[in-house]
Amino acid sequence: MAAAGSAVGLGNVWRFPYITGKYGGAAFVLIYLAVVVVIGMSVMLAELAIGRKAKLDAVGSFRKLMGGAWPIVGWMGFFCGFVILSYYAVIAGWTMAYMFKSFGGLMGEAAAGKAGDVFGAFVSDPVLTVVYLCVVMAVVIGVVYRGISGGIEKSCKVLMPALFGILIILIIRSVTLPGATEGLRFYLLPDFSKVSGEGVLAAVGQGFFSLSLGMGIMITYGSYLGNHENMPHMTRIIVCLDTAVAIMAGLVIFPAVFAFGVDAGAGPGLTFVTLPIVFSKMPMGGFFSFAFFALLFIAAFTSAISLFEVVVTYSIDELHWSRAKSAIVMGLAITLLGVPSALSVGGHIPQIFGKDFLDAADFVTNNVVMPLGGMLIALFVGWFWTKGATDEVTNNGELNFKYYTAWLWICRVIAPLCIALIFINGLKW
Ligand code: PFF
Repeated sequence: MAAAGSAVGLGNVWRFPYITGKYGGAAFVLIYLAVVVVIGMSVMLAELAIGRKAKLDAVGSFRKLMGGAWPIVGWMGFFCGFVILSYYAVIAGWTMAYMFKSFGGLMGEAAAGKAGDVFGAFVSDPVLTVVYLCVVMAVVIGVVYRGISGGIEKSCKVLMPALFGILIILIIRSVTLPGATEGLRFYLLPDFSKVSGEGVLAAVGQGFFSLSLGMGIMITYGSYLGNHENMPHMTRIIVCLDTAVAIMAGLVIFPAVFAFGVDAGAGPGLTFVTLPIVFSKMPMGGFFSFAFFALLFIAAFTSAISLFEVVVTYSIDELHWSRAKSAIVMGLAITLLGVPSALSVGGHIPQIFGKDFLDAADFVTNNVVMPLGGMLIALFVGWFWTKGATDEVTNNGELNFKYYTAWLWICRVIAPLCIALIFINGLKW
C-alpha cells in the first residue's frame, strides 16, 4: 500500500491528462498502456526483487549485490528524487491553494468562465506560489525529520477508496455535460497519425514517473518485504491501481475540456483550469472541489514523502549524516531549487532554451534520467544478477510465476532496446 501511495499522486491527475492532451489523446493512451504493461511492470518487479534481496537503499543494494559501477544507478535515483521533489512540491502547493480557494469565490469565477484567469493570476503571484512551496516542504521535512512515514501506509488504505469514489462522481458529472462526446472521442478513439517519436518517449517518461520507477524507490520499498510475499502479484496490484487512477482522471478531464472549449494542449494548467468548471456545474460544487483537492493533496503528499525519503536515506547511508541533518539540509536545498520552478510558470524568470524551468527539470528527470535508470535496472537483472533475480521473483522456486520467461526477456532485450530506440528517435528538447 505504501508503494501504491508513492505511485498514485500528481502524476496521475495532473501530469497524465496534460501530457495526453499534448500528445494527441487516445493513441498516446494506448501507447502508455503498452509501456506500463510491458516495461513498467517488468522494471517494477526487478526493483522490488533487488530491494528484497539486498535489504538496503538503492546505492547500497547495487553495491552489495554486484559492486563495480552499478551504485551509480542509485545515485541517479538520488538526483531524480532531489530534482523531482523541487517542482513536485510546487504543484502540490497549487493543490493546497485550490483546496482553500474552493470556498473562496473559485466556484463563482469558474461558473462565469474565468477559471483560466484565476489560474493565470495565481501562478503569476510570485509571493503566494513560493509561500505554498515553502509550506509544503516544511510539512514534508517535518514528517521525514521525525521518521514518522510509517503512518503513510495506513493513510493510503483510507485515501485510495476515497479518491476512487470522488473520481467516479466526477466522471459521471463530466461525461453527462453537453458536448462531452467530442472529448470521449479524443480520449478513446485513437488517431495514430498523431503519434511521434517524441510522443512515445513522453509515454515512457510518464510511465516511469507515474509508477515511481527508475530511481530506486521500489528498491527501497522492496527492502521491507518479507521473503514469502508474492512480488509478481503485488506488482500487478500497484500497476493496476495506479493506471486506473490515471485513466479515470482522463475520463473526468477530457469530456469537460471539450464541453467547455478549453485547449487540450494547454500544458501544466490543464487540470487546474478544467476541474473548477466541472465543480461549478455540480450541486455542492464548493464542497466537492475542497474534498477533491484535499484528497489530491494527500496523494501528492505520500508521493512527496517517498521522493524525499530517497534523498534522505542516501545522505544517511552514504554521507553518514544524521536523519535530522539530512532532512534539514537536503530539505532546504530542495526548497531553494523549487523557487525558480515556482516562479517560472508565471514567467518571472527567463526560459532555458525555450522551456520554463519547471518543464526543463521535468524533462531531464522524466525523459532522460528515469528511463536510463530503468534500462540499467532491467539490464542488471536480465544479464548480471540473473540467478539471484530468478530466485527472488519465484521465492526460491516456491512460487509458480507464469510469466517468468516473458519477464526475463523483457528485461534482457525488449525493455532496453525499446528505451534505446525511443531515446534515439524521440529525445528532443
Ligand atoms: N509517482 C508519483 C506520481 O505519479 O505522482 C510521482 C513520483 C513519486 C515519481 C516518487 C517518482 C518517485 F520516485
